[in-house]
Order: sequence, then C-alpha cells, then structure tokens
Amino acid sequence: MLTTEEIQTRVAELSSQISTDYKQIASKQKPLLIVGVLRGCFIFLADLTRAMTITHQVDFIALQSYTKANTTGAVELRLDLLSDIAGKHVLIIEDIVDSGYTMRYLLKLIEARQPASVRVCTLLSKPSKRKVKVGLDYIGFKIPNVFVVGYGLDYDNRYRTLANIGRVVLESE
Ligand code: IMP
Ligand code: MG
Repeated sequence: MLTTEEIQTRVAELSSQISTDYKQIASKQKPLLIVGVLRGCFIFLADLTRAMTITHQVDFIALQSYTKANTTGAVELRLDLLSDIAGKHVLIIEDIVDSGYTMRYLLKLIEARQPASVRVCTLLSKPSKRKVKVGLDYIGFKIPNVFVVGYGLDYDNRYRTLANIGRVVLESE
C-alpha cells in the first residue's frame, strides 16, 4: 500500500515540519517531549526523531484498546510515562488513529498533567472509521478502511518489521 520510499519521504517532511514548528515554541525551560505510544510507534518514532533538528526528550506509554472485541472503546493504561510532563511541550507519536478512542483517552490523561502544550503526530489515519473526534496536528497518510501492517504496525504482533506498509487480506473477504 505504501512503499519504503513513500514512507521515508513523508517521514522526512514531517520531521522537518515538526522541527520548524517547535523551534518557535520549545525552550530549555519548556522542552519538547516526544511521547511514543507503544508498541506500534517504535519504528516511525525512531526514524522521525533521528531526522529532527531540534533538541528533544523521548518517553513511552503503552495502552491497550479492546475495540477489536467490542466497540465500546474501552482503553487501559498498561505502562505509564517515566517523565514528569508538567510544563513541557508534549508531542504524541502514534502509528495509526482508527476509531479515535485510544487517542481520546491519551489526550485526556496527558492534558490532566498540565503540559505546556499537547499535539498529536500519527503516521496513518483512517478518517472513515472515526467514532470520536480527535484533533490530529501531523498526519503522514490518510488511508481507507483496510487493515494494514508493517513499519511498526502489527497483526497479532507479527509483521511489524516489514519496511513497507501492506494491506492484510482476511480470508473472509
Ligand atoms: P483506535 O483506538 O480505534 O483509534 O485504534 C487504535 C489502535 O488500534 C492503534 O493504535 C493500533 O494499535 C490499532 N489499529 C487500528 N487499525 C490498525 C491497522 O490497520 N493495523 C494495525 N493496527 C491497527
Ligand atoms: Mg497502537
């Protein structure tokens, strides 16, 4: 669905946009803190942050959503941040925003801890599947309603390390 080259080009653009934007607002007193949502973000985050030209800190959080089993949007915190985020400019890095339940939960959690600002960067977005409205500040690619793997994204914890992004065709389709 997306080739390695297409992904790398877009990641470089996002990285440069983010660097330019945060040069205006981040400072020693109010640093940029990158918050990666495990586990799907890890490859995207590694490429994005290494290309950034602004000083930043990195931390991770792990969430589990049960949207597969039911559509109530139950989300659970599995691993919290180690950093204190008060007064920092937080940029959340996510692999994909689908229903939006995970991001809504995360934004609420982060905003309650008084950061200087919060923005969201997602590699992929499936706008047609959105159940709740969430503001996305940086989007790599908008994709249709298909299940994708590769570049960090998994199906049953497999295929994460594919260099490209491919569509999973289920037997029932
Ligand atoms: P949401 O809460 O429905 O927005 O979905 C959040 C999570 O579902 C993402 O962080 C992914 O882990 C997972 N997810 C949704 N769509 C896909 C996909 O197409 N491939 C792999 N994971 C997905
Ligand atoms: Mg995820």
